[in-house]
Amino acid sequence: MLTGRTRTKETESRTGISLLEHALRADVDWGFNCSRGTCARCRCYIAEGSDLLEEPTDAEWDRLGPDELDAGFRLGCQAKVARTGTIKAVNRTYF
Ligand code: FES
Repeated sequence: MLTGRTRTKETESRTGISLLEHALRADVDWGFNCSRGTCARCRCYIAEGSDLLEEPTDAEWDRLGPDELDAGFRLGCQAKVARTGTIKAVNRTYF
């Protein structure tokens, strides 16, 4: 399940693509700007299924840091699905 600013949708998870790509394919209004892991506009809270995602990228460690990663936040443009299953991601941008 993906929740953006104005829409919540369920979509089938696919391995190897990012949460942002899932949101765009499902037409969810998900904030993003750079798609490179620097702006953090795509930041999201993983309410369920964080173990189904690939490990945080160097960009996520640099931009979010251990406190936000531990609290369940990821960058949608960086977090890719490693295994299919139920993932609930909510776009929680800073601004
Ligand atoms: S879109 Fe800029 S960090 Fe993800």
